[in-house]
Amino acid sequence: MKIFVPPIKSQGIKTKLVEWISANVENIDYDRWVEPFMGTGVVAFNVRPKKAILCDSNPHLIRFYNAIKNKEITSGIVRKHLTEEGQKLLSSSGDYYYEVRNRFNDNGNPLDFMFLSRSCFNGMMRFNRKGGFNVPFCKKPNRFAQALVTKITNQVENISQIIQYGDYTFKNQDFQVTLKELNPTDLVYSDPPYIGRHVDYFDSWSEDEEIILRNGLDNSGVKYILSTWLSNKYRTNNYIYDIWKECNVTTKEHFYHVGGKETNRNAVYEALLSNVELDNSISNSEMKSRIVLNKSRLTTEDNKYEIPEQLTLVLEEQQRLTKAIHNAGLAVN
Ligand SMILES: C[S@@+](CC[C@H](N)C(=O)[O-])C[C@H]1O[C@@H](n2cnc3c(N)ncnc32)[C@H](O)[C@@H]1O
Repeated sequence: MKIFVPPIKSQGIKTKLVEWISANVENIDYDRWVEPFMGTGVVAFNVRPKKAILCDSNPHLIRFYNAIKNKEITSGIVRKHLTEEGQKLLSSSGDYYYEVRNRFNDNGNPLDFMFLSRSCFNGMMRFNRKGGFNVPFCKKPNRFAQALVTKITNQVENISQIIQYGDYTFKNQDFQVTLKELNPTDLVYSDPPYIGRHVDYFDSWSEDEEIILRNGLDNSGVKYILSTWLSNKYRTNNYIYDIWKECNVTTKEHFYHVGGKETNRNAVYEALLSNVELDNSISNSEMKSRIVLNKSRLTTEDNKYEIPEQLTLVLEEQQRLTKAIHNAGLAVN
């Protein structure tokens, strides 16, 4: 599958999971694709539904995609803008980044948003308490060399075409408003921020909000899929076993490197939770009992993974759950 990468970057971007998510939704019938938390939009732009409502509380993302939709931003405009602004960045030895950042925090220009997203430290998206973009410069004054400008220009062109051929609406609104607009024939892909993991102006998330989301999805009668993490080397996401306990679960491991050393290769298990059956999905209670009985690692695919760190984690999880089950007076077969 050719993956279309959006021109905006963010730490929560699901590029690596797009193929898996697409495969899981291809046999589901629906009239309209809805994302209450579109972020960079990479999931919708690759699933490519005919009709979609894509929402986010971050106004800059929505303004950017509406500007592409209305053709205020085209690939030609982007090429010219990044070439000219890139020159200024280079001749100022990088100081110009902070001029653009101040300007953007005053007027929210979507082209400046893209410039910052592509030249800030690590492609992060972070806003301070006043809603100002506050990520520092990546410290590469020649950031917008010809090759990168061409790459971003092509990304804008591809996404423009996808938007042009679909019936897509971009809305700057809180997820609770989106929940009220759902129709039972919608398929909702939900990728909320992780509880307690990352807090900034447009992007904080609490347990209460997660419960509101679950209730809103359940009560609207839609089919839904929710992306979340299941475990990493240190922690397990226990919300899966309470807030989302009625869902089916399918999992996928993905690796990240710490400091570039092969030995520091850590696995994270990602989960898709759904009220419909997905590829290889099992019920949440089955997943929980596998963990309690140490029947498999934290995955829905038996015996596939060989990760010692995960085994440690399973054992810790087993202890915790065994205790919880004992306390609740439940027996697991
Ligand atoms: C994990 S990111 C989504 C990433 C996206 N799937 C992607 O691949 O780029 C979560 C998104 O939720 C948005 N968000 C946070 N709180 C929100 C709220 N209360 N209502 C709507 N969107 C919210 C953030 O701005 C962020 O873009």
